[in-house]
Amino acid sequence: MTTAVLEGLGGRLPPVVVTNADLAARLDTTDAWIRARTGIAERRRVEPGTATRELAVEAGRLALKAAGGGDADAVVLATTTPDRPCPATAPEVAAMLGLTGAAAFDVAAVCSGFLYGLATAAGLIAAGVARRVLLIGAETYSAILDPADRSTAVIFGDGAGAVVLRAGSPDEQGAVGGIVLGSDGDHCDLIAVPAGGARKRASTEPRDHFFQMAGQETYRHAVARMTAAALDALERTGWAPADVDRFVAHQANARITDAVGRRLGVPPDRALSNIERVGNTAAASIPLLLAESVLAGSLVPGDRTLLAAFGGGLTWGAATLVWPDVTALMSGQR
Ligand code: UT7
Repeated sequence: MTTAVLEGLGGRLPPVVVTNADLAARLDTTDAWIRARTGIAERRRVEPGTATRELAVEAGRLALKAAGGGDADAVVLATTTPDRPCPATAPEVAAMLGLTGAAAFDVAAVCSGFLYGLATAAGLIAAGVARRVLLIGAETYSAILDPADRSTAVIFGDGAGAVVLRAGSPDEQGAVGGIVLGSDGDHCDLIAVPAGGARKRASTEPRDHFFQMAGQETYRHAVARMTAAALDALERTGWAPADVDRFVAHQANARITDAVGRRLGVPPDRALSNIERVGNTAAASIPLLLAESVLAGSLVPGDRTLLAAFGGGLTWGAATLVWPDVTALMSGQR
């Protein structure tokens, strides 16, 4: 059986740092509240003129380089913040990377986008449609956040991460396995940008064009759904929670990662985290965390790695892989 094997990755953060103190200066919030409730100290924002495509291209270029260069047959871009409602952002990203002619499309699964993209890439490879896929998670949340909404403005940040997946066999290091996806559209309104689509095309209420989230209810779903998806992925892989060396959860909230880890029975020191410095970067969260962790030496070849995500839709997903030896290839990214 042909399986998707991870062979390179890269992460990209935009340069503007927004600290909790910066937000407390203009919103009714405090550094203490944000740290205690989310684990976030700062997040990044793009400079004016930078959109999702630029972040995606930069992460994609790093991932391709780490994978030894060369082309990809398909470019899959997971994003909540495409540059325009139409067309998809992926074809332009592919062209900017010199991959004109490759299949290219966006995946919209909000914070679960990377795992949905991973499943899609694995499917393209298993079906023989593509031999090599560049999967990018890239977000410019600053474009859709309500600057006056303290409950979301403190959480989300901009960023991108990318991985290259090639055709290989299931017993190789880096082979993606145990993929689980799910959704529950009955709760589609918990995380939404209400206007700007076919249902509510334009609104005189500016908030309708901004991202909105019912935090508390979302929190409960996030913990339950990520735990269930992770357990399902472990069972499909034949691993017990104690076998997990590295737990890589979508960085929604440090308390959510802790709660899921506790429910799974994965010791806290096995959970990777960068939320303190980058906030919640939605579809970019997992690949960015993977790339940063390799560079920091906290994710090493042979680590049995569990990925889990949850996001708007509602959507969720999980997958496993034994971490491949990509550290030396990424040395240029330090
Ligand atoms: O990535 C996709 C999935 N996302 C998630 O899973 C996120 C899930 N939700 C969360 O992470 C948390 O619910 C939040 C971080 C969004 C909020 O934390 P919370 O502990 O659930 O707070 P809360 O919404 O229950 O609000 C508690 C209080 C409220 O005040 P009252 O009603 O008790 O007086 C809020 O108005 O905290 C208030 N509040 C804030 N206070 C200071 C909400 N945001 C802020 C803020 N600063 N930024």
